[in-house]
Amino acid sequence: MRCLCFVLILFRGCFGMGLWETIFGPALGDGISIQNMVMNFGYKLTEHEVISETGNILVLHKIRSKRRNFRNGSHTPAVLIQHGLLGASDNWFLRGPEKDLPFLLSDAGYDVWLSNMRGNVYSRRHITLNPDSSSSYWNFGLHEIGYYDLPAIIDYILDKSEQESLFYMGHSIGSTIALILCSLRPEYNKKILLHLALAPIAFVTHKPKMFHKMVFSVFPFVEQSVQSRNIHEVFPRRKYFSRLIEYLCQDGTYFQKLCLMFILNFVGVDYDQFNATLIPNFAKYYPAGTSLCMASNLYQLFTTGIFTAMDFQNKSENLLHYRTEIPPSYNLSNVVHPVTLHYSDGDYLVTKDDIDMLAEKLPNVKDKLKIPYPSFNHLDFMWAINSKKLLYDQLLLLLNKYLEN
Ligand SMILES: *[C@@H]1O[C@H](CO)[C@@H](O)[C@H](O)[C@H]1NC(C)=O
Ligand SMILES: *[C@@H]1O[C@H](CO)[C@@H](O)[C@H](O)[C@H]1NC(C)=O
Ligand SMILES: *[C@@H]1O[C@H](CO)[C@@H](O)[C@H](O)[C@H]1NC(C)=O
Ligand SMILES: *[C@@H]1O[C@H](CO)[C@@H](O)[C@H](O)[C@H]1NC(C)=O
Repeated sequence: MRCLCFVLILFRGCFGMGLWETIFGPALGDGISIQNMVMNFGYKLTEHEVISETGNILVLHKIRSKRRNFRNGSHTPAVLIQHGLLGASDNWFLRGPEKDLPFLLSDAGYDVWLSNMRGNVYSRRHITLNPDSSSSYWNFGLHEIGYYDLPAIIDYILDKSEQESLFYMGHSIGSTIALILCSLRPEYNKKILLHLALAPIAFVTHKPKMFHKMVFSVFPFVEQSVQSRNIHEVFPRRKYFSRLIEYLCQDGTYFQKLCLMFILNFVGVDYDQFNATLIPNFAKYYPAGTSLCMASNLYQLFTTGIFTAMDFQNKSENLLHYRTEIPPSYNLSNVVHPVTLHYSDGDYLVTKDDIDMLAEKLPNVKDKLKIPYPSFNHLDFMWAINSKKLLYDQLLLLLNKYLEN
């Protein structure tokens, strides 16, 4: 009985339904101050707003370098970290200075910027549209973020830091949007010194795992039922949803195993690198919300295997978004900035075959680097217990190597 309740609540909670809102209260929003969290670790964080061409208000977080690193008389380039699906900038700060990437980069002398994709808890604003009532606000997928938002963000950072180019680190779809940007607006290639692509999603060539097959098979039904209720936002950050997970998945509960099983079957089974004690904390910050459109976009990427813009399955809607009736496919010959591809054998969402295919299409791949830990999964790029030793140390080395040349 409790189990059934859990599943039902989870299901309802995921789609921001009216009932859920009434019973369980407001979105988290500013409830947890990211400034305080970072300050408690001894770092200073500033918040910046960027308005994209489409009127979306996007929030960036910046951590200044702790010690200034100079390169031939000038400051080192900034590093931009872009979160993946359903993430937010604060996901990268949850474990502290010894473990988390932004702190390690700051200690090494880099100014670190973290961006938030439109529609998430920080970037859920627009100069004219109201996300609470306007369905147009939610009418976006990866294409819009890559084409309109990311260039505005990059230009803002370059302007503020008085630099010509920056280092780009994208996790999952965070990397995808940079590929989209540079294929459509090749002038942005020169603004990316080096793109460290952490499990980038582009061509999905691998066969889906059993659990993914299940999710994909119910997706069209769920999509339709959500759409018919006029809901356009999915998996928003909710205070009481996270409380529930906190309660159910804390140490010493039976449900913790269930939580783990659910998460790990989706991203890759790696019990050893996942600190289950932290699930309640993670659940406060993840998921952070996106559009139903984005979910459909990913469903299409994963089920068709082609790297194209999302098909709205409506010619006039496609025309509106892309000025063509057929969604554009992304010409990766245009993506000439240097890229290092990071992947793992334990990742269920992005496999070696997917990376090989991407590497074949990208003209300037500097390196394909496998994580030296077989069961490292999609989420481990952010939260593995040994993420520093297994990945971040190498990222820092790559940046250093790049600066020396
Ligand atoms: C700085 O760069 C210039 C031109 O790229 C080079 O000639 C010079 O030796 C460099 N200086 C140092 C201190 O590395
Ligand atoms: C897991 O997280 C808890 C709470 O922060 C921490 O005390 C513990 O050391 C972590 N475990 C490992 C193996 O890092
Ligand atoms: C297709 O999109 C247009 C423009 O958004 C909309 O007016 C129309 O109702 C849609 N047609 C169908 C069949 O959904
Ligand atoms: C992709 O871009 C390259 C270089 O810009 C060009 O030569 C090629 O014809 C394009 N391919 C397609 C299919 O448009």
